[in-house]
Amino acid sequence: MPRKQSIHGAWANRWIFILAATGSAVGLGNIWKFPYIAGENGGGAFVLVYLVCILLVGIPIMMSEVLIGRRGRQSPINSMRETAYEAGHHGRWAGVGWMGALAGFLIFSFYSVVAGWVLYYIAGMGVGQFVDLGSEQAGLIFNGLLADPATLLIWHTLFVVIVMLVIAGGVNKGLERATRVLMPALFVLLFVLLVYSMNSGHFAEGWDFLFHFDPSELSWDAVLVALGHAFFTLSLGMGSIMAYGSYMGKGDSIGGTVLTIAALDTLVALIAGLAIFPIVFANQLDPGAGPGLMFITLPVAFSQMAGGQVFGFLFFLMVGFAAWTSAISLMEPGAAWLVETLGLSRARASLLLGVVVWALGLLALGSFNVLADLKLLGMTVFDFLDFITANVMLPLGGLFIAIFVGWYLTREMTEDELSLRSALIYHAWRLVIRYVSPAAVAVIFALNLYQKFADGMS
Ligand code: TRP
Repeated sequence: MPRKQSIHGAWANRWIFILAATGSAVGLGNIWKFPYIAGENGGGAFVLVYLVCILLVGIPIMMSEVLIGRRGRQSPINSMRETAYEAGHHGRWAGVGWMGALAGFLIFSFYSVVAGWVLYYIAGMGVGQFVDLGSEQAGLIFNGLLADPATLLIWHTLFVVIVMLVIAGGVNKGLERATRVLMPALFVLLFVLLVYSMNSGHFAEGWDFLFHFDPSELSWDAVLVALGHAFFTLSLGMGSIMAYGSYMGKGDSIGGTVLTIAALDTLVALIAGLAIFPIVFANQLDPGAGPGLMFITLPVAFSQMAGGQVFGFLFFLMVGFAAWTSAISLMEPGAAWLVETLGLSRARASLLLGVVVWALGLLALGSFNVLADLKLLGMTVFDFLDFITANVMLPLGGLFIAIFVGWYLTREMTEDELSLRSALIYHAWRLVIRYVSPAAVAVIFALNLYQKFADGMS
């Protein structure tokens, strides 16, 4: 029998769930990662594939994760096991939850390093360090930061600590209250930045770069990156959304809620792209500049606009908050499991997880300096962690979730949990989750893995 509520608590109402899940989804993935991978993969064609992936793979799988979480009412590991039992199957489906928890650690370890860069920029903007910057100077500042492990360590540590504090206090209070304020503020600030970039003179070029579809620019590699990013940006494939779903009210509609979250997340990514690329072109920067893109372009823009220091400070603050609410959701599945299964207090669970991800983060942090020569499959540790999670573990987790929900859970279970408005929509969802999403993931995945490892071997 489905339970009424999780032992960890419940969201106050449907909108809080939407905001919390949007808080998880909207993060560095949207504002930092999306623009730079779109830049590296040629722009428009990549963006189109990404949007298709969100629609055909992301949204149906997000519905599935919420469904499993709300049905199981426990941490992802235990919810997978519970719902498998309920449908008369083997408990080893919990393994999907385990892989997710591991992916969460790995993502956290490099996520926290980038969030640390954001904190550094908040501080820098706050003390007025970034006045009158040319793009060259901005590049020097960013590369100087990367080369300095001690400074990176301070900010990385600070970020892990603030995430631990929220996890320790339980998700509801701190997180709920923060999201209510921070998410709307983020939207407002992004919008202001967009207006600025529309007036910078190169908006059309930025727009064209993002939305001009030229199929010849599309490689298989770019398709995998787009698919991986659809998972990453919607927080799918590792249990974040499943955990948040377990705190959702029974009467709330999963379909409408998930559509809202996905739409908000996509909107933020596109606005971030539309804010950043015009600045890139106005300052003759390279759209394929990689991870430094946001950290080099935006300070240049802020240093030139009136009130830019204040605004830049607020902007990076918002990015920091967005990263914060996302990182919390990376840790929540593990924390919930430790509390449920080992009976740890929230504080202990948080401490344990915090220490693990902090230590892992040291490897990611060192990739830019002391460990720069350490290569895995030809990538630095930082790039490897990003690749193995976003492009391998998340799609794989998503594939298993789609197969589980589409083929293993009973029809009654999914129909009852989703309670979609019409039978037609349910059938469409079921068709997609059984055939379209798994096939899309499997094909893209197999082709790429083959290519990657073939390249890696040679
Ligand atoms: N979606 C977040 C972002 O775009 C990151 C994130 C949070 C995430 N939880 C996740 C990514 C779970 C993958 C899986 O920044």
